[in-house]
Amino acid sequence: MINAQVRPAGLKDHQQLSSLIFFETRSHRHLDWRSPLEWLGDDFFWMLEEGSHTTAALACPEETKGIAWVRLFVHSSEWSAENAWTLLWNMAKQEIAQAGGTRVAAIVQHAWFQNVLELSGFESRQSIVMLEWQYQPWAPRETDGVRIRKMTEADIPSVVTLDGASFDPLWHNSYETMRRALSQSLFATVAEDERGIIGYQLTTGSGARTHLARLAVHPATQGSGVGRALLRQLIGTLVHNGYQKLSVNTQSDNSASLRLYQKLGFIRTGEAYPVYFFDVPAYSYR
Ligand SMILES: CC(C)(COP(=O)(O)OP(=O)(O)OC[C@H]1O[C@@H](n2cnc3c(N)ncnc32)[C@H](O)[C@@H]1OP(=O)(O)O)[C@@H](O)C(=O)NCCC(=O)NCCS
Repeated sequence: MINAQVRPAGLKDHQQLSSLIFFETRSHRHLDWRSPLEWLGDDFFWMLEEGSHTTAALACPEETKGIAWVRLFVHSSEWSAENAWTLLWNMAKQEIAQAGGTRVAAIVQHAWFQNVLELSGFESRQSIVMLEWQYQPWAPRETDGVRIRKMTEADIPSVVTLDGASFDPLWHNSYETMRRALSQSLFATVAEDERGIIGYQLTTGSGARTHLARLAVHPATQGSGVGRALLRQLIGTLVHNGYQKLSVNTQSDNSASLRLYQKLGFIRTGEAYPVYFFDVPAYSYR
């Protein structure tokens, strides 16, 4: 610990960080469209070194203005999570403040990480809860008169704008994230009317499992059946293609989406992950 020092991580550190992640089991990784090391080269990525030995890393790149998710925190077993986090987080807070400040957030899946965040003053006001739909013989691919078609890459700018209008800033996606999401999706559709795209859903699949990763309807059209139509059409398509399960995550305080999912037969699985945040203020030079 004597010679430990924190420095920004860059592309040249790929190999060392990749070994650290591979060999260490104590890591927090964000549910993400990129692997943690694909963030190398962005700001707000630091590593802890003892001589030439890399012992911990923290990445919280600010993908959309004002929001920086903790994409990676990993530390070697020679260090306690608290000590490694404290050194990295002190540097992070200082550099983020100098860069103008931001909200740093994390969806917590492990008690040890929750403990570390709470010790650093992070707060939690909501959780992410999981729901699951399982095959039911009823599965019409009805769209209730809503025009729904496959999403294409040309739709991404409109979808990003719609996303920005529908979600709280914490959950906004950038163009690049949406592009990656679409390329990794199994079924992605948009609903449109004469004004353009008014809603979309994006679903991923792995083996027999499918996951509704994103659903949004423009605020001007919410409450008129577009979300239900997108979901009914999706479920019908999944059943038609032999899939039997669809999972989804939503915020514990998102009553509109919880009601919609439950009305369509989704059931809460009991899994819940708290969302923590810490507002790093801009550094004042006075
Ligand atoms: C959640 C969301 C997709 C619902 O889409 P929508 O088109 O507004 O919903 P619909 O009009 O199809 O409503 C379907 C059902 O959902 C429920 N619902 C929709 N809006 C609701 C609200 N504000 N409060 C409570 N229930 C609501 C109702 O049960 C409704 O059925 P009903 O009209 O027969 O009562 C939309 O509100 C939205 O985009 N929200 C912001 C983004 C978001 O939270 N996405 C989901 C996160 S995973």
